[in-house]
Amino acid sequence: MDFELSETQRLIRDTARQYAKDVVAPRARQTDREHRFPADLYKQMGELGLLGVNVPEALGGAAAGAVSYSLAMMEIAAACASTSVGMAVTNMCAELITQFGTDEQKDRHVRRLVSGEAVAGAFALSEPHAGSDPGAGKTTAVKDGSRWILNGTKQWITSGAYAGVIVVWARTSNDGNKGLSCFIVEGGTPGLTAGKPEEKMGLRGSNTVSLTFESCAVPEGNLLGKLGDGFKLAMTALDGGRIGIASQACGVGRAAIEASVRYAKERKAFGQPIGDFQALRFMLADMQTQLSAAELLAWRAAAMKDQKRPFTREASMAKLFASEMSNRLCDRAVQIHGGYGYIDEFPVERYLRDARVQTIYEGTSEIQRVVIAREVLKAAG
Ligand code: CAA
Repeated sequence: MDFELSETQRLIRDTARQYAKDVVAPRARQTDREHRFPADLYKQMGELGLLGVNVPEALGGAAAGAVSYSLAMMEIAAACASTSVGMAVTNMCAELITQFGTDEQKDRHVRRLVSGEAVAGAFALSEPHAGSDPGAGKTTAVKDGSRWILNGTKQWITSGAYAGVIVVWARTSNDGNKGLSCFIVEGGTPGLTAGKPEEKMGLRGSNTVSLTFESCAVPEGNLLGKLGDGFKLAMTALDGGRIGIASQACGVGRAAIEASVRYAKERKAFGQPIGDFQALRFMLADMQTQLSAAELLAWRAAAMKDQKRPFTREASMAKLFASEMSNRLCDRAVQIHGGYGYIDEFPVERYLRDARVQTIYEGTSEIQRVVIAREVLKAAG
């Protein structure tokens, strides 16, 4: 066991940290207040390698591995969770096409994703009636000569209105999970329309829309992976995606602690800084301990992914623990700030709103427990 970062990991973390400090953090409040999708940052993030951290150099990625990806996500999320979720989904799409795509698909789509040329990637799995159970999706893809024709509606699609590359799941037969296949659809394809952006409680700088496919035709070469393998592709992508959301949760949790420490040193009550009271100190001690535990879970899952070992259980454990940790920490941070925690002059109310979705997207806490329990029982034979 080695807790030291490699030179590459340190470089990616420091690059992300500097960029977060100089560019992302100063505009995070406006991004949230104005519900402004940070489209202009994607080219910059692409240039820094942040959109394809675990994608081979031959496809334009940083080839720095999953631990580096986790570190980078933590840094961007600590500055702006809205920006980090678009980064996470773009990395997830780029990795999925890298893993399962044909040479032509990789060449065309991965390069555009990791450079930021496609702006963002979108992961169109959920439907209005099918979130936790994607196998119940009703969107269809029907073969028509050399094209696939897609019809249906996807829901809660991160960056959906901006994404140049969208990975879409559609039913190619009525065989439950095995009837799902995966397709690449380019933004702007005729027959694809984005709904009105959702007015969300948090992550307000992230664009969340429904996507409707009406006789939307894509070339037959846009089938990603094998026909009927879509469900497995989704599960594979989500294993990695859950490391991303665990890391996002750690970033937001860390930002909540940093804000709380600053405030606890400045704010005085009963003639002394509130950080001198044991009540505050015990809160900070618990917060830091929980954050460190979540970080270690995220990095362990990422290290196992880098070692090409199975990491489904570890990714779900990291996502479950980190997302619930970040909600607890942000709630504590508001408490430490008192009335100031409840207004937007201080960042902690944004952190609390942003953290809330982390126990919901990329698989709810309940789904993570289903996955973990299955793996525990499977391992016991
Ligand atoms: N990797 C590879 N294959 C896997 C897998 C994994 N982690 N997990 C399951 N599979 C395979 C199984 O081996 C099985 O294959 P066979 O049919 O050959 O045996 C097949 O997939 C079906 O698996 P299950 O029987 O376990 O499927 P299930 O219907 O019971 O569902 C589930 C399992 C874990 C509940 C799954 O449906 C799930 O994860 N649901 C949550 C969906 C989710 O996370 N959605 C998030 C939306 S995306 C998002 O939020 C992005 C964003 O914007 C931020």
